[in-house]
Amino acid sequence: MDYGGWRRRRLAGSPGRLKVAHCMLVDLISAEPAHRPVLSDLLHLYAREFNEFHPVQFGTDGRFVYRDLPKYWKEAGKHPFLIQIDGKTAGFVLVQQTRAISGDDPVWEIAEFFVLKEFRRRGAGMDAAHRVWKRFPGMWQVRVLQANDAGFHFWDQAILRFTGNPAQPSALDRGGDRWLVFSFESRHSG
Ligand SMILES: CC(C)(COP(=O)(O)OP(=O)(O)OC[C@H]1O[C@@H](n2cnc3c(N)ncnc32)[C@H](O)[C@@H]1OP(=O)(O)O)[C@@H](O)C(=O)NCCC(=O)NCCS
Repeated sequence: MDYGGWRRRRLAGSPGRLKVAHCMLVDLISAEPAHRPVLSDLLHLYAREFNEFHPVQFGTDGRFVYRDLPKYWKEAGKHPFLIQIDGKTAGFVLVQQTRAISGDDPVWEIAEFFVLKEFRRRGAGMDAAHRVWKRFPGMWQVRVLQANDAGFHFWDQAILRFTGNPAQPSALDRGGDRWLVFSFESRHSG
């Protein structure tokens, strides 16, 4: 697979890890309760960026609080991950089990997904998304605000390269915003 020159190869003896050319090691780790402050900081940066597309409420101290974060260590079907590059925190993924927007069947959902600006366009986001989808086989949905052009192109490409088929998102109008919802199946495991 070639991401504009960022070629990747599996590391011998390290099946869960992928080496990106230019000596970059991308890893996806389960976030433990001790990682909560790091996740809170990343969620704050994510919210600042999200605020460009959709108004987000910040505290009087300017901080963003993600109220559902504690549930990721309490409720079944919620899974927090950190993305690391060369052992450094580069982003996060929050996965949850929910009901499909189209119908009512149980599906896996990317609740939130973020890569820090300095680590973008190196294939790390796509690696992380593919690894999460492989970890939880079954039906998936991914929602993105139509106004989030970069996010839309990212999911479009990540799903295309994962399933081998062009993704066909459906439109959803909710809370005064237009969302695009991708639905697909992960038949992989691992
Ligand atoms: C969207 C986001 C997760 C992408 O992460 P990333 O690590 O930079 O993505 P990758 O390097 O794996 O990109 C894979 C492909 O997605 C597409 N893509 C990624 N960012 C893009 C952008 N800004 N514009 C257009 N296409 C983009 C490209 O096809 C890219 O392949 P290429 O670099 O070979 O052209 C990151 O920009 C981000 O965290 N944005 C803010 C939060 C957000 O929007 N989250 C997702 C919405 S729910």
